[in-house]
Amino acid sequence: MIDPNTVKNKALVAWVDKWAALTTPDNVVWCDGSQEEADMLYNQMIAKGACIKLNQEKRPGCHLFRSDPRDVARVEARTFICSNTKQEAGPTNNWMDPKEMKLKLNDLFKGCMKGRTMYVIPFSMGPIGGPISQIGIEITDSPYVVVSMRIMARVSPKVLEVLGETGKFVPCVHSVGKPINTPEDDVAWPCNPENTYITHFPETREIISFGSGYGGNALLGKKCFSLRIASAMGKAEGWMAEHMLILGVTDPKGRKSYVTGAFPSACGKTNFAMLIAPKELQDKGWKITCVGDDIAWIKPGPDGRLYAINPENGFFGVAPGTSMKTNPNALLSCAKNTIFTNVALTDDGDVWWEGMTKEKPAHLIDWLGNDWTPESETPAAHPNSRFAAPIENCPCLDENAEKLEGVPVSAIVIGGRRPKGIPLVFESFNWTHGVYLGAMMGSERTAAAEGKQGELRSDPMAMLPFAGYNMADYLGHLVSMGKGLSQTPRFYHVNWFRRDENGDFMWPGFGANARVLAWIVNRQYGEAKAKETAIGFVPNYDDIDWDGMEYSADTFAELMSYDAETVAAQPLKEELYDQLPHSLKVEREALLERLS
Ligand code: GTP
Ligand code: SPV
Ligand code: MN
Repeated sequence: MIDPNTVKNKALVAWVDKWAALTTPDNVVWCDGSQEEADMLYNQMIAKGACIKLNQEKRPGCHLFRSDPRDVARVEARTFICSNTKQEAGPTNNWMDPKEMKLKLNDLFKGCMKGRTMYVIPFSMGPIGGPISQIGIEITDSPYVVVSMRIMARVSPKVLEVLGETGKFVPCVHSVGKPINTPEDDVAWPCNPENTYITHFPETREIISFGSGYGGNALLGKKCFSLRIASAMGKAEGWMAEHMLILGVTDPKGRKSYVTGAFPSACGKTNFAMLIAPKELQDKGWKITCVGDDIAWIKPGPDGRLYAINPENGFFGVAPGTSMKTNPNALLSCAKNTIFTNVALTDDGDVWWEGMTKEKPAHLIDWLGNDWTPESETPAAHPNSRFAAPIENCPCLDENAEKLEGVPVSAIVIGGRRPKGIPLVFESFNWTHGVYLGAMMGSERTAAAEGKQGELRSDPMAMLPFAGYNMADYLGHLVSMGKGLSQTPRFYHVNWFRRDENGDFMWPGFGANARVLAWIVNRQYGEAKAKETAIGFVPNYDDIDWDGMEYSADTFAELMSYDAETVAAQPLKEELYDQLPHSLKVEREALLERLS
């Protein structure tokens, strides 16, 4: 805990006082992010039945939470970009006039923390005091948010030191929206689904979130700050905030490169970020290391190259599907000091989720708290159940992950879940063509957001729910970021999710993706061949290292084939397409010509 009397930043103190006066909590606690503070909060939550301490021999420092079943994912329909005009929010964002939204929020927040404690969390996205890092202060009435934020961001009194008397911070206000008027209101997972609002004010760089306690709705340093507000900052200041993983690759010649990757939510960023190369490639000297699994802030460096940092300090990863087979590094990252939400509980106090082991446990308590057996018809873990694991646990953490100036970006991988018509990999002709490919990205909708699962939707640069301003302007900004670089990364469109006529994945994915990555890395040195096609450069069968893997040239040809109609489809909303920068429309014209 921090003594509020020691806080020197008057604007910060006044801001906290203002919100405390409006929300009327029982008390206000300034958090220091310490282990003692977290232990105290865990113990309080355990006593209330809001949290389960897991088997401390198997999972030291680990805890399980079960959310309200109505509060299990980001709510895009309730997420708003409140820029001064609707045009600035653009055709893909929900918009409300900032004054009108503030009035509405003022009503909702009036007395909303009654009976609860207001926590003030000073946090840094990026290493504290780093030149690219940013400071935020989150006010919340959720102790779950406090213990999660200290994993996902850097929470420390040092943040207030860096802030000093006059430093600027991004104000982030969060309430679960459930005042305790009667003892019955003091539920395990308070939330207010009828009145949920996740709101952003890009002009004033403020975030106000009401009604949800889950993930990106509540851990405001993540999507709200590091993507929506940061993307608006980046536009104004000449940098990029992207929904991208960052990984390092050491090649057989001992050279190190860094690759970023934009995939929509629950489409494999965490898996790709922590990839383990097949043994045969490792023996040749290939090694992959992780810098980040979800967000990249990218700025041009003094040498004219793009440099990326991971603003986060932990992984908020999708649990189902994570196993020692698919992603051992992610599972090992969850070995200690991890928060699990909406996964199943085993009889010996450990966690389980679909896909973790081949054999299902004979008995579990499911994410709803009910008995579960393999005969049960519902999943034991919610499809969007997640772990929040400290990044320091990651066995393959890159040695430069904390480097203040970031790591140089050699290539940008993009892609989504495309069951049909889109090949395993193709390379952009140039930066603008790469941005065009990003603009035309699509993916099957996953459990990471509300809505119809599996439906193919347009998701430009995996930023559909995360651009803090007009998507057309965002894409125009990306085009302009490619200008004047000393070394321009190429874009690679990948698709691990193509299916055959039986509906099975055509590509084994996971570790095998390292073979595609090796081709990508070699391309920058002109050491891997490619064939020019209408959609971009593609590897020939022999350009992929197949050592230790059987995959026939015929199947590969099928996997690499494209369907001209699918490629030509223009998934963007008409209104968005109309506003796109001219250079991207030219790319489209050129593509249609090449395809015809
Ligand atoms: P967010 O955290 O929501 O932004 O998502 P993410 O992109 O980090 O998603 P994650 O890596 O956690 O992927 C989630 C799902 O993708 C899991 O169900 C994985 O099993 C699946 N997945 C990841 N990589 C592959 C792959 O190469 N092939 C196939 N078929 N599935 C994959
Ligand atoms: C995503 O949905 O892309 C996530 C999870 O990374 S959340 O932080 O909840 O947005
Ligand atoms: Mn994400």
